[in-house]
Amino acid sequence: MDYQVILIENDRLTLERLSGVISSTPGFTLAARYQHAGDALGQSAMFKPNIVLLDIDVKGNLALIPEFIASFPSAVLICASSHWDAADAEQMVQAGAKGFLVKPFSGEELTQAVQIFGKNGMARGSEVMAFFSPKGKSGKTTLIANLAMSLAAKIGEPVGIIDADLQFGDMAVFFNLEPKSTIVEATRDVKFLSPVTLNSYFVPVPEAENIRVLCGTKMPELAEMVEIAPFEDMVRMAQSLFRYVLIDLPPGFNPISVAASELANTTYMVAMVGGGYEVLHMKRALEIFKAWPDYESRVKTIFTRVSPCTDEERKILEKELEYPISAILPNEYLLVSAAANSGRMAVDIQPDTPLSKQISRLSKDIMGHRIQWGEQ
Ligand SMILES: Nc1ncnc2c1ncn2[C@@H]1O[C@H](COP(=O)(O)OP(=O)(O)OP(=O)(O)O)[C@@H](O)[C@H]1O
Ligand SMILES: [Mg+2]
Repeated sequence: MDYQVILIENDRLTLERLSGVISSTPGFTLAARYQHAGDALGQSAMFKPNIVLLDIDVKGNLALIPEFIASFPSAVLICASSHWDAADAEQMVQAGAKGFLVKPFSGEELTQAVQIFGKNGMARGSEVMAFFSPKGKSGKTTLIANLAMSLAAKIGEPVGIIDADLQFGDMAVFFNLEPKSTIVEATRDVKFLSPVTLNSYFVPVPEAENIRVLCGTKMPELAEMVEIAPFEDMVRMAQSLFRYVLIDLPPGFNPISVAASELANTTYMVAMVGGGYEVLHMKRALEIFKAWPDYESRVKTIFTRVSPCTDEERKILEKELEYPISAILPNEYLLVSAAANSGRMAVDIQPDTPLSKQISRLSKDIMGHRIQWGEQ
């Protein structure tokens, strides 16, 4: 059966235009349309809509969301506006709206909105995690790809990866993706996007239905096209789509890594144990993050290729670093490279290896399980 839609749109021309879009989209029927929200509320007994589309460009309509939800309890409430605004989005979700569309929308966008938001609604309490490394070759991209797999499998909700390692991002290679659009187009277009349209810039990972990746630039010289303010807007918009947003970054402090870390709920500093200077570099980077008054809760550390990967070894590193270490990953070069070469992840191919177990432990930690060290 078709979705029964009630449309509330103050602007007469837009009302005509959107009515036409809804009526001509397969699977949707326009049950009723109103210029004024008050009129729609008064008529609630007449219709049992599945979808209420509410114009929030009219002052006061945002505040009516709870009343709409009470009047149309079996409908999904989708807000529509001429532009996306992160602060409004926060208010919409708090009030119980499930989705958002930028006007005028197409039939395809309407269909996608129902697909994306119909099940869980806009992501609530979405968490942004930035992965920072003082230097390159820290095992960061491997960690992010595997962690995303583990989180998505456990939570069953969408997880987004943003490859913001602007010049040499290789997340697309890890997942064997061939993106049509990348971070360059997403940040260029963000002013005109809504979560629904931004979603199509993220490429789905065929092996993991809940993961989507916004791939990095196709050539290093395109990096300079990614500006910071639109990048920040884009990350905030992505929060409406994904329960977790994981951001891969270029090594060191630079405009994009600083912006992403500032924006993130948690910044993970990642280093690979190797030549012996990693702890020192990590310490120096940590000194900079200490400018944040709440750095102790926002900055976490991870060491990769730790051998032996034991609690004792973690404690030794912790003592040297003089800061808690959130996770250590074992040396598993063959496993991670073989997995990445096949476009799949180690946690997926071999869930029982020490690496997979440590990543699983970290994802449980992120999801809020208070588990003891050593417990898997
Ligand atoms: N836990 C691990 N044990 C052994 N080798 C690993 C581990 N994690 C990653 N590697 C290997 O280390 C190399 C660098 O890993 P990765 O690309 O994930 O790091 P990165 O910090 O993202 O590097 P870049 O600076 O190039 O972005 C790769 O060859 C990868 O296969
Ligand atoms: Mg990398």
